[in-house]
Amino acid sequence: MTTQKDRYQALLVSGLVNAHAVEKQALSIMTPQVSRIENYPEVADRLRLHIDETNSQIARLDEILAGFDTSGSTLKDIGLSMSGGMAAIAHSVAGDEILKNSFANYAFEHFEIAAYKSLLVLAEDGGFASATSLLQASLGEEQAMAQWIDETLPVVTRRYATLYTEEGSAAAKI
Ligand SMILES: [Fe+2]
Repeated sequence: MTTQKDRYQALLVSGLVNAHAVEKQALSIMTPQVSRIENYPEVADRLRLHIDETNSQIARLDEILAGFDTSGSTLKDIGLSMSGGMAAIAHSVAGDEILKNSFANYAFEHFEIAAYKSLLVLAEDGGFASATSLLQASLGEEQAMAQWIDETLPVVTRRYATLYTEEGSAAAKI
């Protein structure tokens, strides 16, 4: 017989699988960005760190899902990874690629923050305490990354303007 707890667990698992796909998409957005950056090394360094964090977040989601006898890897992962790659290609055409990437990353981190906050509500209300500390750890990393992008946007924008006016658009682009 399916209990209310079972249905709650199914709801949480569905959310965890979605988050897993979102993190795969995050990797597919950040990885091509890092490889293209030339004149904004601190952005590349922070992205590399967040790629490592994102791999840890995927491992945490896998760990929680394994506890529910579920795997995180789905077809959804593949579809969203492809759309992430497409977004990176679209921005690479823009003359202000570094700025477009900053705006997109700012939005994406806040999407992830909302997703983890929602998962934490499900985990707490459903009584799945084992999931909450892992989800909290990932939420903290997303919030730190979002804050870094927020604080660094003025720096990146000013460097873009300086490079653009002193060295030309090609130097400023990425
Ligand atoms: Fe993130």
